[in-house]
Amino acid sequence: MTPGVFITFEGSEGCGKTTQLERLARRLAAIGGAGRPVLRLREPGGTPLGEEVRRLLKHTAPGWSVVPEAELLLFAASRAQLVREAVAPALAAGQVVLCDRFLDSTTVYQGVARRLEPVSVAAINAFAAGPLRPDVTFLLDLPAELAMARARRRDQSAGGTPDRMEQEPMAFYEQVRAGYLRLAETCAERFVTVDARLPIDDIEALIWTQLTARCHGLFP
Ligand SMILES: Nc1ncnc2c1ncn2[C@@H]1O[C@H](COP(=O)(O)OP(=O)(O)OP(=O)(O)O)[C@@H](O)[C@H]1O
Ligand SMILES: [Mg+2]
Repeated sequence: MTPGVFITFEGSEGCGKTTQLERLARRLAAIGGAGRPVLRLREPGGTPLGEEVRRLLKHTAPGWSVVPEAELLLFAASRAQLVREAVAPALAAGQVVLCDRFLDSTTVYQGVARRLEPVSVAAINAFAAGPLRPDVTFLLDLPAELAMARARRRDQSAGGTPDRMEQEPMAFYEQVRAGYLRLAETCAERFVTVDARLPIDDIEALIWTQLTARCHGLFP
Protein backbone atom coordinates (compact mmCIF):
# COMPACT_ATOMS: atom_id res chain seq x y z
CA MET A 1 0.00 0.00 0.00
CA THR A 2 1.28 3.45 -0.93
CA PRO A 3 1.32 6.37 1.56
CA GLY A 4 -1.64 7.96 -0.28
CA VAL A 5 -5.10 6.61 -1.03
CA PHE A 6 -6.15 5.63 -4.55
CA ILE A 7 -9.91 5.57 -5.15
CA THR A 8 -11.48 4.73 -8.50
CA PHE A 9 -15.03 4.89 -9.88
CA GLU A 10 -16.24 2.34 -12.38
CA GLY A 11 -19.42 1.40 -14.22
CA SER A 12 -21.11 1.85 -17.57
CA GLU A 13 -21.79 5.16 -19.33
CA GLY A 14 -24.33 7.25 -17.41
CA CYS A 15 -24.22 5.29 -14.13
CA GLY A 16 -23.10 8.32 -12.11
CA LYS A 17 -19.31 8.02 -11.78
CA THR A 18 -18.51 11.68 -12.38
CA THR A 19 -21.43 12.81 -10.22
CA GLN A 20 -20.20 10.74 -7.28
CA LEU A 21 -16.53 11.56 -7.78
CA GLU A 22 -17.46 15.25 -7.57
CA ARG A 23 -19.57 14.65 -4.46
CA LEU A 24 -16.72 12.79 -2.77
CA ALA A 25 -14.21 15.48 -3.76
CA ARG A 26 -16.54 18.05 -2.20
CA ARG A 27 -16.84 16.06 1.03
CA LEU A 28 -13.10 15.64 1.23
CA ALA A 29 -12.59 19.35 0.55
CA ALA A 30 -14.97 20.17 3.40
CA ILE A 31 -12.65 18.37 5.83
CA GLY A 32 -9.51 19.70 4.14
CA GLY A 33 -8.85 16.23 2.72
CA ALA A 34 -8.13 15.22 6.35
CA GLY A 35 -4.80 16.95 5.82
CA ARG A 36 -4.15 15.32 2.45
CA PRO A 37 -4.31 17.14 -0.90
CA VAL A 38 -7.01 15.66 -3.14
CA LEU A 39 -6.23 15.05 -6.82
CA ARG A 40 -9.01 14.44 -9.35
CA LEU A 41 -8.16 12.51 -12.50
CA ARG A 42 -9.96 10.74 -15.30
CA GLU A 43 -9.38 8.02 -17.84
CA PRO A 44 -8.71 8.22 -20.63
CA GLY A 45 -7.04 11.56 -19.97
CA GLY A 46 -5.71 13.24 -16.84
CA THR A 47 -2.45 14.35 -18.50
CA PRO A 48 -1.89 16.52 -21.60
CA LEU A 49 -0.99 13.42 -23.64
CA GLY A 50 -3.88 11.44 -22.17
CA GLU A 51 -6.39 14.18 -22.98
CA GLU A 52 -5.31 14.03 -26.64
CA VAL A 53 -5.79 10.26 -26.59
CA ARG A 54 -9.22 10.81 -25.00
CA ARG A 55 -10.21 13.06 -27.89
CA LEU A 56 -9.13 10.38 -30.36
CA LEU A 57 -11.01 7.64 -28.54
CA LYS A 58 -14.24 9.56 -28.01
CA HIS A 59 -14.48 11.77 -31.06
CA THR A 60 -12.89 9.85 -33.89
CA ALA A 61 -13.62 11.51 -37.24
CA PRO A 62 -16.75 10.10 -38.91
CA GLY A 63 -15.92 7.12 -41.08
CA TRP A 64 -12.73 6.23 -39.24
CA SER A 65 -12.56 2.68 -38.04
CA VAL A 66 -11.04 1.87 -34.64
CA VAL A 67 -10.27 -1.81 -34.29
CA PRO A 68 -10.56 -3.23 -30.74
CA GLU A 69 -6.80 -3.90 -30.58
CA ALA A 70 -6.00 -0.27 -31.42
CA GLU A 71 -8.61 0.90 -28.93
CA LEU A 72 -7.04 -1.23 -26.20
CA LEU A 73 -3.56 0.17 -26.91
CA LEU A 74 -4.78 3.77 -26.96
CA PHE A 75 -6.42 3.33 -23.53
CA ALA A 76 -3.21 1.70 -22.34
CA ALA A 77 -1.06 4.57 -23.65
CA SER A 78 -3.17 7.10 -21.78
CA ARG A 79 -2.98 4.96 -18.62
CA ALA A 80 0.79 4.45 -18.80
CA GLN A 81 1.25 8.23 -18.89
CA LEU A 82 -1.32 8.87 -16.16
CA VAL A 83 0.21 6.38 -13.73
CA ARG A 84 3.75 7.72 -14.05
CA GLU A 85 3.05 11.42 -14.49
CA ALA A 86 0.18 11.86 -12.04
CA VAL A 87 -1.01 8.93 -9.92
CA ALA A 88 2.26 7.46 -8.61
CA PRO A 89 3.85 10.81 -7.64
CA ALA A 90 0.64 11.94 -5.90
CA LEU A 91 0.35 8.68 -3.95
CA ALA A 92 4.04 8.83 -3.01
CA ALA A 93 3.36 12.31 -1.62
CA GLY A 94 0.49 10.96 0.50
CA GLN A 95 -2.34 12.50 -1.53
CA VAL A 96 -5.86 11.19 -2.04
CA VAL A 97 -6.26 10.37 -5.74
CA LEU A 98 -9.78 10.10 -7.17
CA CYS A 99 -9.90 8.63 -10.67
CA ASP A 100 -12.94 8.48 -12.97
CA ARG A 101 -12.35 4.99 -14.49
CA PHE A 102 -9.05 3.06 -14.38
CA LEU A 103 -7.80 -0.29 -15.59
CA ASP A 104 -10.96 -2.21 -14.64
CA SER A 105 -12.67 -0.36 -17.51
CA THR A 106 -10.28 -2.01 -19.96
CA THR A 107 -10.67 -5.43 -18.37
CA VAL A 108 -14.41 -5.14 -18.91
CA TYR A 109 -14.87 -3.09 -22.11
CA GLN A 110 -12.08 -4.61 -24.19
CA GLY A 111 -11.69 -7.96 -22.41
CA VAL A 112 -15.41 -8.76 -22.09
CA ALA A 113 -17.61 -6.57 -24.30
CA ARG A 114 -15.13 -6.32 -27.22
CA ARG A 115 -14.18 -9.97 -26.73
CA LEU A 116 -10.41 -9.50 -26.91
CA GLU A 117 -8.39 -12.30 -25.38
CA PRO A 118 -8.55 -11.60 -21.58
CA VAL A 119 -4.98 -12.84 -21.10
CA SER A 120 -3.69 -10.26 -23.62
CA VAL A 121 -5.79 -7.51 -22.03
CA ALA A 122 -4.41 -8.41 -18.58
CA ALA A 123 -0.84 -8.39 -19.91
CA ILE A 124 -1.25 -4.98 -21.52
CA ASN A 125 -2.97 -3.63 -18.40
CA ALA A 126 -0.06 -4.87 -16.31
CA PHE A 127 2.44 -3.26 -18.68
CA ALA A 128 0.58 0.07 -18.64
CA ALA A 129 -0.22 0.31 -14.93
CA GLY A 130 2.61 -1.76 -13.43
CA PRO A 131 1.69 -3.19 -10.03
CA LEU A 132 -0.44 -0.17 -9.08
CA ARG A 133 -4.02 -1.07 -8.12
CA PRO A 134 -6.70 1.09 -6.47
CA ASP A 135 -7.16 0.83 -2.71
CA VAL A 136 -10.92 1.10 -3.17
CA THR A 137 -13.03 0.84 -6.33
CA PHE A 138 -16.66 1.97 -6.29
CA LEU A 139 -18.72 0.15 -8.91
CA LEU A 140 -21.94 2.00 -9.69
CA ASP A 141 -24.20 -0.75 -10.90
CA LEU A 142 -27.21 0.14 -13.05
CA PRO A 143 -29.31 -1.76 -15.63
CA ALA A 144 -27.97 -0.91 -19.08
CA GLU A 145 -31.22 0.66 -20.35
CA LEU A 146 -31.40 3.03 -17.40
CA ALA A 147 -27.73 3.98 -17.65
CA MET A 148 -27.96 4.77 -21.35
CA ALA A 149 -31.17 6.77 -20.85
CA ARG A 150 -29.38 8.87 -18.23
CA ALA A 151 -26.37 9.39 -20.51
CA ARG A 152 -28.64 10.41 -23.41
CA ARG A 153 -30.60 12.89 -21.26
CA ARG A 154 -27.38 14.39 -19.97
CA ASP A 155 -25.90 14.73 -23.47
CA GLN A 156 -29.11 16.30 -24.83
CA SER A 157 -29.46 18.81 -22.01
CA ALA A 158 -25.81 19.79 -22.48
CA GLY A 159 -26.51 20.29 -26.21
CA GLY A 160 -24.02 17.54 -27.07
CA THR A 161 -24.21 14.34 -29.07
CA PRO A 162 -23.31 10.80 -27.93
CA ASP A 163 -19.59 10.08 -28.20
CA ARG A 164 -18.15 7.00 -29.94
CA MET A 165 -18.35 4.82 -26.83
CA GLU A 166 -22.02 5.73 -26.34
CA GLN A 167 -23.15 4.38 -29.71
CA GLU A 168 -22.98 0.64 -29.19
CA PRO A 169 -26.01 -1.68 -29.26
CA MET A 170 -27.69 -2.26 -25.87
CA ALA A 171 -26.27 -5.81 -25.69
CA PHE A 172 -22.79 -4.27 -25.46
CA TYR A 173 -23.69 -2.33 -22.30
CA GLU A 174 -25.40 -5.40 -20.84
CA GLN A 175 -22.13 -7.28 -21.29
CA VAL A 176 -20.26 -4.38 -19.69
CA ARG A 177 -22.57 -4.52 -16.67
CA ALA A 178 -22.24 -8.29 -16.30
CA GLY A 179 -18.46 -8.07 -16.76
CA TYR A 180 -18.16 -5.50 -13.99
CA LEU A 181 -20.27 -7.56 -11.59
CA ARG A 182 -18.10 -10.62 -12.20
CA LEU A 183 -14.90 -8.61 -11.76
CA ALA A 184 -16.21 -7.13 -8.50
CA GLU A 185 -16.72 -10.65 -7.18
CA THR A 186 -13.22 -11.70 -8.27
CA CYS A 187 -11.60 -8.64 -6.68
CA ALA A 188 -13.97 -8.40 -3.72
CA GLU A 189 -11.22 -7.08 -1.41
CA ARG A 190 -11.13 -3.69 -3.15
CA PHE A 191 -14.54 -3.42 -4.87
CA VAL A 192 -17.61 -1.83 -3.33
CA THR A 193 -20.69 -2.36 -5.50
CA VAL A 194 -23.34 0.31 -5.11
CA ASP A 195 -26.93 0.22 -6.36
CA ALA A 196 -26.85 3.21 -8.73
CA ARG A 197 -30.67 3.36 -8.93
CA LEU A 198 -30.63 5.05 -5.52
CA PRO A 199 -30.91 8.84 -5.24
CA ILE A 200 -27.65 10.76 -5.68
CA ASP A 201 -27.58 11.87 -2.00
CA ASP A 202 -28.04 8.30 -0.74
CA ILE A 203 -25.22 6.98 -2.93
CA GLU A 204 -22.97 9.79 -1.75
CA ALA A 205 -23.66 8.89 1.89
CA LEU A 206 -23.13 5.20 1.22
CA ILE A 207 -19.80 5.81 -0.50
CA TRP A 208 -18.65 7.97 2.40
CA THR A 209 -19.60 5.33 4.97
CA GLN A 210 -17.79 2.61 3.02
CA LEU A 211 -14.71 4.71 2.47
CA THR A 212 -14.33 5.77 6.07
CA ALA A 213 -14.88 2.18 7.22
CA ARG A 214 -12.26 0.83 4.80
CA CYS A 215 -9.69 3.56 5.36
CA HIS A 216 -10.20 3.82 9.11
CA GLY A 217 -8.00 6.39 10.72
CA LEU A 218 -7.43 8.26 7.47
CA PHE A 219 -10.67 10.19 7.37
CA PRO A 220 -12.68 11.32 10.41
N1 LIG B 1 -28.32 8.37 -8.69
C1 LIG B 1 -28.77 9.06 -9.72
N2 LIG B 1 -30.09 9.14 -9.97
C2 LIG B 1 -30.55 9.83 -11.05
N3 LIG B 1 -29.76 10.49 -11.93
C3 LIG B 1 -28.44 10.44 -11.72
C4 LIG B 1 -27.87 9.72 -10.62
N4 LIG B 1 -26.53 9.84 -10.69
C5 LIG B 1 -26.27 10.59 -11.77
N5 LIG B 1 -27.40 10.96 -12.39
C6 LIG B 1 -27.53 11.75 -13.61
O1 LIG B 1 -27.25 10.87 -14.68
C7 LIG B 1 -26.45 11.51 -15.69
C8 LIG B 1 -25.16 10.71 -15.84
O2 LIG B 1 -24.36 10.86 -14.67
P1 LIG B 1 -22.78 10.99 -14.79
O3 LIG B 1 -22.42 11.95 -15.86
O4 LIG B 1 -22.26 11.24 -13.42
O5 LIG B 1 -22.44 9.49 -15.24
P2 LIG B 1 -21.04 8.89 -15.66
O6 LIG B 1 -20.99 7.52 -15.07
O7 LIG B 1 -19.94 9.82 -15.29
O8 LIG B 1 -21.18 8.77 -17.24
P3 LIG B 1 -20.00 8.69 -18.36
O9 LIG B 1 -19.44 7.30 -18.29
O10 LIG B 1 -20.74 8.89 -19.65
O11 LIG B 1 -19.01 9.76 -18.08
C9 LIG B 1 -26.23 12.95 -15.19
O12 LIG B 1 -27.17 13.77 -15.83
C10 LIG B 1 -26.48 12.85 -13.70
O13 LIG B 1 -26.98 14.07 -13.17
MG1 LIG C 1 -18.48 10.73 -16.45
